[in-house]
This record gives sequence, structure tokens and C-alpha cells, in this order.
Amino acid sequence: MAVPVILDCDPGHDDAFNILLAAAHPAIDLLAITTVAGNQTVESTTLNARRVCTVAGIEGVPIAPGRDRPLHGAPLAGENIHGDSGLDGPGFGDDEPRVPRDPRDALTLVRDILRTHPAPVTLVATGPLSNVATLLLAHPELSHRIERIVLMGGSTGRGNTTPAAEFNILCDPEAADIVFSCGRPVTMFGLNATHQVRATPEIVSRIASLGTPLARLCVELLTYFAGTYREVYGFETPPLHDPLTVAHLIDPSLISLVRAPVTVELAGAHTRGATLVDLDGVTGRPANAEVGMEVDVPGFWDLMIEAVRVLGDR
Ligand code: BDR
Ligand code: CA
Repeated sequence: MAVPVILDCDPGHDDAFNILLAAAHPAIDLLAITTVAGNQTVESTTLNARRVCTVAGIEGVPIAPGRDRPLHGAPLAGENIHGDSGLDGPGFGDDEPRVPRDPRDALTLVRDILRTHPAPVTLVATGPLSNVATLLLAHPELSHRIERIVLMGGSTGRGNTTPAAEFNILCDPEAADIVFSCGRPVTMFGLNATHQVRATPEIVSRIASLGTPLARLCVELLTYFAGTYREVYGFETPPLHDPLTVAHLIDPSLISLVRAPVTVELAGAHTRGATLVDLDGVTGRPANAEVGMEVDVPGFWDLMIEAVRVLGDR
């Protein structure tokens, strides 16, 4: 049976690929897409989700905007990586995307789904965790309807937005803390795993050779993303972080996992937003998460490219 999934995201170049993977693969039943402020404002990330779904022909999946800011303080933005639109590179034009936004806000939409879906639902989160934490705080009575939370965020080592903190966690550390301590199963794919998955020139030409308008969009996204990763981090090829979440749900053998205690630094003068992953068990704390470690990189790309092919040929 397909895994029922709500995808909470901030598209974002790598979020866009995760939407494609979730929509294309028969192992996933994509119930909704909710958006959050992160890589850009929530207005922009919502528009971007609608744009991606329009080009990919993903219809009938409700898209609803969530929080426009973290639980505390002001929003950060990721325009140095994702551009002013949050999804720079392709020319989407000024036309309103055909795929609409749902009249509900994200919290109401997710609440309605959790109340009525026949089975517990997996939440996949690939942006700041503001929406997920808001749901947990507003509807504790629905937490048993959440099968598990699978997220991209954090790292077992260094960060990417400060030396200590990864972007999604740094955007809303209090929300991340709520998620890691919520008691539902949490699976984390941090930079230690996602940096293994690089969109090399060979990968980009495999996508280009599909020859569809969707494949062209993907190539434009990856070309822009490669440029900013080169400029900002000096990376030769960009890491496609977010789709590890859905890839794991489709094929759990693709990424090895270890159980570990994970805490989020809320107070540090230079380390706010760091995820402290106690791989050696030195804290004596009980494990509260599964943490992604080694990725079967060719296996991941086969899945991802097949998703672009399937949607492009529809
Ligand atoms: C994360 O931050 C965003 O830039 C990406 O979309 C990804 O979710 C990587 O740190
Ligand atoms: Ca993201």
C-alpha cells in the first residue's frame, strides 16, 4: 500500500525535485503540499509549489500556505542559494499557474486530513519546522494520527548557514526542538547525508536527454543551483538535499540509519540552531530519532530521474 504523505516544504530548488518524486512514485500517496517561509517568503514558496505542479501536471493535490515566520523572531531567507524568487533559473513567466491554492491555510488543511484519512499520515518536512511545530502545539489530540515525521535538516557535523547550524534548523530552532522532542518517530536527513548526493554534469545530461519540457525545467533549476553553490560554498556540484526524505520512504534500503539522541541548540552564542547528534552515546540520553548516514547515490539518482521521466511523459 502507498504511504500517505503530507509534504511540508519551502521550494526551493531541491524541494521542487522532492515534489516531483513524491507525485510520480506509486509507493507514495501525496495527500497535500503545505508551504512555509524559508528559502523565500511563504507567498513565494506557495507560488513556486504551484508553478512546479503546473509544469509537471500534478493536479488534484491541495497546496496551502502555512507560517510566514518562525515561532520566535524574524524570518531568515535563502536567496543567496535560491534567488529572489526562491526558484530562480527557469523563466516561469508572469502568468498565474494553473494549479490553484487551496482556500484553507496549512494548519486547517493538515488538521482536516489527519482527522479524516483512514490511516495515520507521514509528515515529510523539507523547510523550517514552523508548520509542523504549530500543528503539534495546536492539535496534540491528533499526534497519534501522525505515523512519523521525516525531515531534511541539521547535520551530524558542521552547518551550512553558520559553522554550527544548517539552514532549515537555524530558521526556526524552537520549532525543531518541539519536533525532535514530540514523541512521534522522527527520521532526520542532515547535511552529512545530503552532501553525498551531487547533481554532477553526468546527472544533468541524463535528465536533459529525457527531452521533455519538465526535463528542461529540471536542467534549468540544477544549472542555477550549481551556480550559487559554486559561488557561495565553492562546491563543484550542488547537493540535492530534500529528496532524500521521499527516496527513503520509497526504498528504505537506499540510506542507512542509526538511532541516536538529537538535541537542538537554542541558546549558544555562536551555535544556535546546531543539531547535536550523540552518535557515541556519551550523553546517556535515550535515542529520539533515526539519523540518515550512508546513501546509495546511484540508486537515489535512478529513482529521481525516473520520476522526472514518468511525469514528463504523462
Ligand atoms: C536546506 O535548506 C534549503 O536551502 C534547502 O531547500 C534544504 O531544505 C539545506 O540546508
Ligand atoms: Ca527546503
